[in-house]
Amino acid sequence: MTGTSTQPRVTINDVAPRDGLQIESRFVPTEEKIRLIDALSRTGLAKIEATSFTSPKAIPNLRDAEAVMRGIERVPGVDYVVLVPNEKGAERALACGVDEINLVLSASDSHGRANLRMTAEQSLERFANILQITKGHDVFVNASISTAFGCPFEGDVPFKRVLSITEKLLAMGVQGVTLCDTTGMANPRQVADLCRETLSRWPWLPVTIHLHNTRGMGLANALVAWQNGITRFDASLGGLGGCPFAPGATGNVCTEDLVHMFEQMGVETGVDLERLIAASELLPTMIGHEVPGQVVKAGTSDRRYPLPEAAMD
Ligand code: COA
Ligand code: ZN
Repeated sequence: MTGTSTQPRVTINDVAPRDGLQIESRFVPTEEKIRLIDALSRTGLAKIEATSFTSPKAIPNLRDAEAVMRGIERVPGVDYVVLVPNEKGAERALACGVDEINLVLSASDSHGRANLRMTAEQSLERFANILQITKGHDVFVNASISTAFGCPFEGDVPFKRVLSITEKLLAMGVQGVTLCDTTGMANPRQVADLCRETLSRWPWLPVTIHLHNTRGMGLANALVAWQNGITRFDASLGGLGGCPFAPGATGNVCTEDLVHMFEQMGVETGVDLERLIAASELLPTMIGHEVPGQVVKAGTSDRRYPLPEAAMD
């Protein structure tokens, strides 16, 4: 099926190599990471969040960020994104010639301190310095707002706080914003309201939504975000993912399940689902356990089974 003007095409950033591998109990060897990213690069995905330039003490699983960025094949048409928390991370990212820097801060100060040792205000100060560093470089600067729909320590995060952080990010020159439901606390009504409010204030702004499926609401939230004007999604191959500094965190909304849903609805994603499923099939061996994604196990909904003999007469 093809999309129509009433069914805007969606673009997906696969965050499995970053959000997924950061929380695995074992270190995935660099060459395996490169194999995974190279497989994702051939699926038609618009973006791949390949790694993060964070402290190797904080995120030891991604301590090979430079080697990963230098080892992957850069497929034309795919943007290679990296997560960056501070100036040092930005300098490391620029030295690798990344396409996009995804700055990260937390809407709630308790998660900010646990994850980054920074409040939102402190992160914003660092970002102002980072924007000086990125000046003159051909790099897109996005910012991800963690715990935008709720914090595992503080609970509710008021919309006005998230909107005011977005406003400050834009004032300093950030080019895109991602609203993150870090531990799957968002419900569809809340997602609809924050997406609508954000897009009505800044209709021109590339707004991405980053959902975790911790409480089974991932696809419902994705659908409602799309119905409210969001066309950019973070998702993770196999449904891997989670922030190591957010108690109870589990995987992102699963990329192949998300693509399957949209394609079944006739909404274009640009992604070749068969190739994506083939990439997902690499995961259990790579990480040593099954993955939460469902379509990879059930097959696509056009899968057919032979009728049992007993039903044939
Ligand atoms: N890359 C590599 N090393 C870094 C770094 C970066 N971006 N930022 C800091 N470091 C190193 C410093 O060089 C210093 O090293 P040393 O102990 O050998 O001297 C050490 O880390 C401490 O530096 P400091 O600036 O005091 O950082 P911190 O200890 O306050 O940690 C962060 C702050 C942001 C660097 C750290 O909490 C972090 O990397 N968090 C990542 C969170 C994350 O990715 N969460 C999941 C995704 S949401
Ligand atoms: Zn996440």
